Amino acid sequence: MLRGTCVNTEDLQLTRPLLIRSARASEQKQLEALQWRASLENPGDREALLANPDAIELPLRQIEEGGVFVAELSGVVTGFAAILPRDDADSELDALFVEPSAWRGGVGRALVEHCCAAAKALGARSLHVVGNPHAEGFYLACGFEAHGKKQMRFGVGLLLHKPLR
Ligand SMILES: CC(C)(COP(=O)(O)OP(=O)(O)OC[C@H]1O[C@@H](n2cnc3c(N)ncnc32)[C@H](O)[C@@H]1OP(=O)(O)O)[C@@H](O)C(=O)NCCC(=O)NCCS
Repeated sequence: MLRGTCVNTEDLQLTRPLLIRSARASEQKQLEALQWRASLENPGDREALLANPDAIELPLRQIEEGGVFVAELSGVVTGFAAILPRDDADSELDALFVEPSAWRGGVGRALVEHCCAAAKALGARSLHVVGNPHAEGFYLACGFEAHGKKQMRFGVGLLLHKPLR
């Protein structure tokens, strides 16, 4: 598993130094709080989430297994992503959340690129995601391809995957 990556900020047009590293077990609640803030910003998702708070959970085991990555922008935790292995040996992007105040600043793309590298190192040929429709433009901009829809607990999810070359 990849450990810390100093992202080439020129490529990503970031103006501040970004570090992506493995999450620590002690950060579980901090990352869940970040997930809440990011998720509540998606128009239309707010009521369903507030009515079903159990929908936001980052299992400690997932952090301990090394599949959760944190983005630090100028030393401040600004986003995180998680990957899980799939039965077909590919990887699933299981979580991706960026602090709303940092949206459209390149942090989400940097986390996706880190997850792609980590998935590839594990032998995956594609990174899959069931995407929130609000994030469709983001995933397409990051090189994912759409291949269907799936009914999820709170609405329709977009089935997308990104081939790892
Ligand atoms: C989706 C999310 C992770 C994107 O993070 P971000 O840091 O804002 O994304 P980036 O700045 O790296 O954007 C990368 C590209 O996607 C585009 N993009 C980002 N959000 C977009 C959106 N909502 N609609 C269309 N395009 C979008 C950017 O313009 C950028 O394109 P460019 O490089 O060609 O200019 C963030 O908005 C978020 O946390 N949303 C709430 C939680 C969520 O829905 N997560 C996804 C769960 S499946």
